[in-house]
Amino acid sequence: MLPTPPDGLRHWRPEDAPALEAAWVDPDIARWNPPPDGLDAATWIAAAEQRWERRLALDLVITPGVAGEVGLSSFTADPARAELGVWVAAPHRRTGVARRAVEAVAAWALDPDGLALDQLWARTDPANVAAGALFDRLGWDRLGSSGGMVIWSATAAVLR
Ligand SMILES: CC(C)(COP(=O)(O)OP(=O)(O)OC[C@H]1O[C@@H](n2cnc3c(N)ncnc32)[C@H](O)[C@@H]1OP(=O)(O)O)[C@@H](O)C(=O)NCCC(=O)NCCS
Repeated sequence: MLPTPPDGLRHWRPEDAPALEAAWVDPDIARWNPPPDGLDAATWIAAAEQRWERRLALDLVITPGVAGEVGLSSFTADPARAELGVWVAAPHRRTGVARRAVEAVAAWALDPDGLALDQLWARTDPANVAAGALFDRLGWDRLGSSGGMVIWSATAAVLR
């Protein structure tokens, strides 16, 4: 069963498919959050519970409407970690949507009464100025670079 996300976030619904298709062809989202290969949005939405049961990913809509998405993926058990990714639909950018959503999901994911993860991490391309500035603004630790990407980390202690 899918977990109950924090306020401001919800699970994908079948009627969100057109909004998701539109996001997948947004040039910035297509560049920095490439959509899944060979899947249409309706099929991808329908597989959300399976992805969670296999701990492949947990993908959440940022409300109102489909203002964006914040997702956790690459779950590991010991230590309990996940990678965080986020995109915001173009009309909603620069209004604090990503900041509020990442803060909410990180607090929940790192809470022992939430997902009880030990650490969240994120990768940003050095050319993606907005994404780098976002994690910096959120106070995540910049751990360094790996594979040409900047690696960011958040733990409960870092976010306190
Ligand atoms: C990166 C992205 C998610 C930011 O979303 P957003 O909702 O516009 O970000 P916010 O409004 O919450 O901004 C939070 C902070 O991030 C930084 N920031 C966001 N966009 C920025 C930009 N274009 N240039 C510089 N800094 C930026 C600022 O520090 C901002 O804080 P401030 O508002 O106090 O100045 C959005 O630009 C996006 O969806 N880009 C395409 C997909 C993508 O790159 N995803 C990330 C992949 S890791």
